[in-house]
Amino acid sequence: MKYGLFTRAAFFGVAALLAGSVSELRAEDMSALIAQGKYVAEASDCSACHTVRGRGEFAGGMEFKLPIGSLYSSNITPDPTHGIGAYSEAEFSRAVREGVRRDGASLYPAMPFPSYARMSDGDLHALYVYFMKGVQPVALAVPPNSIPWPLSIRLPMTIWRAVFSPSVVAAQKDVNRPLRDDEIERGAYLVEGPGHCGACHSPRGMALQEKALSNSNGSLFLSGGAAIDGFVPTSLRQDQRTGLAGWSEDDIVQFLATGRNRRGEAFGGMTDAIFHGTQHLTDADLHAMARYLLSLQPHQPTLSAWHYDPSAANALQAGDASAQGAKVYVDHCEACHRSDGRGYAPAFPPLAGNPVLMSADPASLVHVVQSGAVLPGMTKAPSAFAMPAYSGILSSQQIADVVTFIRKAWGNNAAPVTAAMVEELRKSAPESAIKKGIIPLN
Ligand code: HEC
Ligand code: HEC
Ligand code: HEC
Repeated sequence: MKYGLFTRAAFFGVAALLAGSVSELRAEDMSALIAQGKYVAEASDCSACHTVRGRGEFAGGMEFKLPIGSLYSSNITPDPTHGIGAYSEAEFSRAVREGVRRDGASLYPAMPFPSYARMSDGDLHALYVYFMKGVQPVALAVPPNSIPWPLSIRLPMTIWRAVFSPSVVAAQKDVNRPLRDDEIERGAYLVEGPGHCGACHSPRGMALQEKALSNSNGSLFLSGGAAIDGFVPTSLRQDQRTGLAGWSEDDIVQFLATGRNRRGEAFGGMTDAIFHGTQHLTDADLHAMARYLLSLQPHQPTLSAWHYDPSAANALQAGDASAQGAKVYVDHCEACHRSDGRGYAPAFPPLAGNPVLMSADPASLVHVVQSGAVLPGMTKAPSAFAMPAYSGILSSQQIADVVTFIRKAWGNNAAPVTAAMVEELRKSAPESAIKKGIIPLN
């Protein structure tokens, strides 16, 4: 199973090679391949970066702000002029797994080809057939990149690729390493490969390379990443407090399927990853991913387990709001998140014992309180939930106070936040995914 999302796709891949070309496939084989390729595209989250509202599915044009200027994702519809209609299967495979464009130029690693290098030949074949035959062509150019010359020369990206991106051969060898059982191998394939979870959840080095691309590179893999659009991806390893220690297999499956569970609610880039990606996966695949994540050793094994401490709840319930930030919490937050910090899951997430509250970097919390957050409805959980934005209501000092309160209360015991930190973070307030048009609000 670990060799691909679909063994059938691999079979058809061979059939297509023997037949000479994709166009010679029988109609029913073709529609099966297209359906399989669509599933691979969902497991790989292609539309999170290549679909912008108002331009058509996969027509590209999403802006990526780099320190050197703006980059736009490509139109990957089969339009021959503006899209990838002229790509052969080999050229498509090189672009997706190796980061090389049809004209030979290197792609920026905003496109997660270092993870996609792990994708199987069978999955790549189904994906190609889907993009060529199952996606509508859109004749729309993407805005030109605003990266000034000489930085626009892609030569450094070629060097970057050579140094930091694995060859397909090396990546496949790692994919085939034996793990405890078939299901965990399948989960590893999905998380480390198409799911590219490490692109956000692993720390990056000086050249913005992921410090580990799979669990065989050690425990930095999925140990938590730097803020993306202001939101901090937490550890997905068995780290106490800041990671998934204490989450059950079902907690993880429910989070990936619906963006909500009894422990928290998705926001920031994770909402995109669920909305475009994981909510479409089968239960069997989500369980495989969850079991694989649960098998990862902690990166910081010395962190102590979180235990609920009732003293903050007792004080609030006795009318004592003297702790720093407690008054703001009572006036603005308690109605939804409750004095005991346990919320009303899944509508209002708990703040007690929630890993995003105990992360060393409080940026996510400050942004969520300042800018609010909306969790859209998902296929399996159609209701949408919203957290109000407080930037116009609370001063920086009040935001610092209330964030300090929720980081400390209920046994969370995380470090305080100052007004100066809030001021600094105000400058980089994220644009919500909904405003950007990544997620339609229905
Ligand atoms: C995290 C964002 C992201 C994801 C996910 C992503 N891409 Fe991309 N992709 C980009 C960006 C950005 C570019 C443009 C990079 C550049 O110009 O250097 C790009 C470029 C490409 C190109 C090059 C086309 C050309 O000629 O310019 C192809 C092909 C492509 N992506 C296919 C895919 C497929 C297929 C998937 C899913 C399996 C996918 N991408 C997922 C961001 C992404
Ligand atoms: C675009 C960046 C991005 C990608 C890709 C991404 N994540 Fe996340 N993820 C985040 C952020 C940011 C958070 C913290 C906010 C939250 O809890 O929703 C998060 C949180 C989570 C959480 C909840 C952890 C907690 O402590 O609340 C889980 C579980 C998770 N991600 C799993 C995954 C898996 C599995 C994948 C790959 C299929 C993945 N993520 C891909 C950005 C991302
Ligand atoms: C009207 C109900 C409501 C009120 C009032 C409210 N919240 Fe929320 N809060 C939510 C909802 C719903 C989410 C989940 C949003 C999402 O995930 O997109 C949330 C998410 C959060 C999160 C992220 C946790 C997670 O797992 O998603 C934090 C931190 C938070 N709220 C803190 C606060 C603070 C501090 C206040 C008061 C200043 C407050 N909230 C007021 C409803 C509320």
